Amino acid sequence: MRITLIGCGYVGLVTGACFAELGHEVVCTDSDRERIAKLKAGSVPIYEPYLDNLLSANCRARRLSFTDDAGEAVRAGDIIFICVGTPPLETGDADLSAIDSVARLIALEAQTPKLVVEKSTVPAQTGQQLKRALGLYRGGNGVQFRVASNPEFLREGTAVQDFLHPDRIVVGVEDQGTESVLREIYRPILEGKFRCPMHTTGCLDARSVELVITTINSAELIKHASNSFLAMKISYANVIADLCEKVDADIHEVTRAMGMDPRIGAAFLNAGLGFGGYCLPKDVQAFIRLAERCGVDAGLLREIERVNKRRVDQFFEKVGQGLWVVKGKRVGLLGLAFKPNTDDIRFAPSLEVVRRLIADGAQVCAYDEQAMGKFSAVFPEVVCQQSPYEVADGADALLVLTESPEFSQLDWGRIYKMMARPLVIDGRNLLDPASMNEIGFEYYGFGCRRQSSAPTPMPAYAAEADVGVRQVSLPS
Ligand code: UDX
Repeated sequence: MRITLIGCGYVGLVTGACFAELGHEVVCTDSDRERIAKLKAGSVPIYEPYLDNLLSANCRARRLSFTDDAGEAVRAGDIIFICVGTPPLETGDADLSAIDSVARLIALEAQTPKLVVEKSTVPAQTGQQLKRALGLYRGGNGVQFRVASNPEFLREGTAVQDFLHPDRIVVGVEDQGTESVLREIYRPILEGKFRCPMHTTGCLDARSVELVITTINSAELIKHASNSFLAMKISYANVIADLCEKVDADIHEVTRAMGMDPRIGAAFLNAGLGFGGYCLPKDVQAFIRLAERCGVDAGLLREIERVNKRRVDQFFEKVGQGLWVVKGKRVGLLGLAFKPNTDDIRFAPSLEVVRRLIADGAQVCAYDEQAMGKFSAVFPEVVCQQSPYEVADGADALLVLTESPEFSQLDWGRIYKMMARPLVIDGRNLLDPASMNEIGFEYYGFGCRRQSSAPTPMPAYAAEADVGVRQVSLPS
């Protein structure tokens, strides 16, 4: 199949690379000419596991190409996937101006019939507007357009895995012909018949995948409803964590047992700093706005957002309890991206944490293998180190901001000896409180139990002992 992709962000690049890997002929374009020039030169603008290799292999095999001539790209494909950004407006609504521009581009440049598929996350009923816009903008050229919706469920950090081994593929269509085309595009995945670039010796979770056929409005709603539900699980877990702290219960014990009920499920119940990134926060906002516009009570959705916004405040209460005075303290950060395995810092809790630390007069240093470059461009005053141990060296506190497994595997005994004061505030509940206490750390997580065997507070900080968390003394 000849496919055109408009928008070379992370969804566009992963989708383009994977379609080409499945054997399709793919042309990608983007209004950012510099980005296209870099991609043509073989440089990948985002960090995403497996993506580099997929892009280069498929460019070499001439199944995948990039062009800054958007008209040429539109004419090249029979099926056009729209993968442009839909960032949040001040109002919380999704900004659909890029979708509108692409509709105009396609309508003006197409010379043969096109199937136009929305992959960008958009509010319900955008497909109807897109169809209308394609009709209006095409003037008198008579080219026929069909419209479909094919929402993506790609998590950053595991996007290639999610694309090739999805839980489901949702397509919103208006006719049988469109369904057949989309089924054909995804056939290798649906039937599990493709050479998986990730699992060269066979995929562990090889299984047939269901193509879920819906109306366009339903497909659009499925995306927002799914992401908002995930966000709701996180906020719910965070409320439970707060309650655990008040009643001296343990969040890990509570969510573990809750998650054993298949009606609840164990995923997305990790308490901590809350959800960030370019999807969940903006999708919840756009979903709220959609509900409000439709006159539907959005109270439940608003609460998800409100709980999430308070997480950094609660984190700072712990920083205050632990450090007492922040001014002049050396604070080390482990993790800057909104989640592990990505260099994406958009809407990452780390941004607000650093803003506040700097405002309070802390000296901040940080480590995040993937995200340090992007972070330094925003906060040049934060010293980025080459290893977690360099961050720990001489620090008055370490703050864990990303749930990267790398941090749980560190030699914490070594870190204990390197820090000026062994204080760890874990914004992701990544570390085991008992093990940290055993080493001698003063450890703060979210919703962790007070330990009756908590060591005696350090003399210098004895005044802060009554804070409901474990405090320890330095070994002589
Ligand atoms: C999300 C959706 O998961 C994906 O299906 C969709 O298509 C795109 O948006 P992504 O933005 O990559 O993916 O991140 P996700 O894995 O959902 O995590 C979002 C945020 O929630 C991260 O900041 C993460 O740290 C946080 N999180 C996640 C928690 O705080 N607790 C959890 O239990 C899970």
